[in-house]
Amino acid sequence: MKGIILSGGHGTRLYPLTKVTSKQLLPVYNKPMIMYPLETLLKAGIRDILIIVAPDHAGDYLKLLGSGKEYGARFSYEVQDKPEGLAQAFLIGKEFIKGDNVCMILGDNIFEDDVSKTIRKFKSGAQVFAKKVSDPERFGVVKFDDKMKAIQIEEKPKKFLSKYAVTGLYVYDKQIVQVARSLKPSGRGELEITDVNQRYLEQGQLKVQVLDGDWIDAGTFESLYRATSLVRKKQQKK
Ligand code: DAU
Repeated sequence: MKGIILSGGHGTRLYPLTKVTSKQLLPVYNKPMIMYPLETLLKAGIRDILIIVAPDHAGDYLKLLGSGKEYGARFSYEVQDKPEGLAQAFLIGKEFIKGDNVCMILGDNIFEDDVSKTIRKFKSGAQVFAKKVSDPERFGVVKFDDKMKAIQIEEKPKKFLSKYAVTGLYVYDKQIVQVARSLKPSGRGELEITDVNQRYLEQGQLKVQVLDGDWIDAGTFESLYRATSLVRKKQQKK
C-alpha cells in the first residue's frame, strides 16, 4: 500500500495566517498540522509516501519532513501547480502509484480513531470513512440504507441527504488512476473525489466505515482551534 498526503491549496479561509505559510504547516498544539495525517499513515504501516504540495512552500515541507528516514519511511514530493481538485492527486502521483493500492489523506484532516486495521485489511475496491456531523452541507455526504450500506454520495448537497460527512481519508485499488483519468472537472472547476467515490459506489465496490472518535478538517479558524484543543486534551491525559 502506497500513501499520499495531499497538502496543497491556498488556505484562503485562514487568511492572514496562510499569507506567509501553508495551512498544513500551521501549529496544531505542539506540532505542524501535517504531522497528524502523517502519523495516521505511518500507524497503518504505510512507508512509501508521496507528499503533494503547493509551489510556494515546497521547500518548507522538505525542511520539516526530509527523506522520511527519521520515520523509517521514504518520502517523495510533487508540486501541484494549481488546486484543481483532490482527485488530481492520482494523476500527479500516477508514476508513484504504479498499479499499487493507495491510501490518500488530506494534510488538514485529523483523526482520533485508529483506522490502521481497516487500511491493513484493504484488498480491492474503495474504502472511505464517514463521520456524523452537524453541518454536512460543508462536505461530501454519504447516505446509508437501513443496513448501513452506502447508497448515495454527493458533494456539498444543497438539499439534506444525511448527516454523514465523508472524511478526507480514502483507500483505492489499482483502478484509481484510470478512474481519475476519466473524470471531468465539476462546476467549481475541480476533479472531485466525490465523483471517484460515486464510480466505485456504482460498481458496488465502495465500503464506508463510520468513525467513533473525533474527526477534524482543520481548514477554518473554528476547527483549527478545536483541533488544538482536542490534541491538548489527549496529551494531558497521557
Ligand atoms: O475534509 C473532507 C472534505 O474534503 C470532503 O468531505 C469533501 O468531499 C472533499 O471535497 C473536501 O472538501 P473541501 O471543501 O474541504 O475541500 P477543499 O477544497 O477545502 O480541500 C481540502 C484540502 O485539500 C485542503 O487542505 C486543501 C487541499 N487541496 C484542495 C484542492 C481542491 C489540495 O491540496 N489540492 C486541491 O486541488
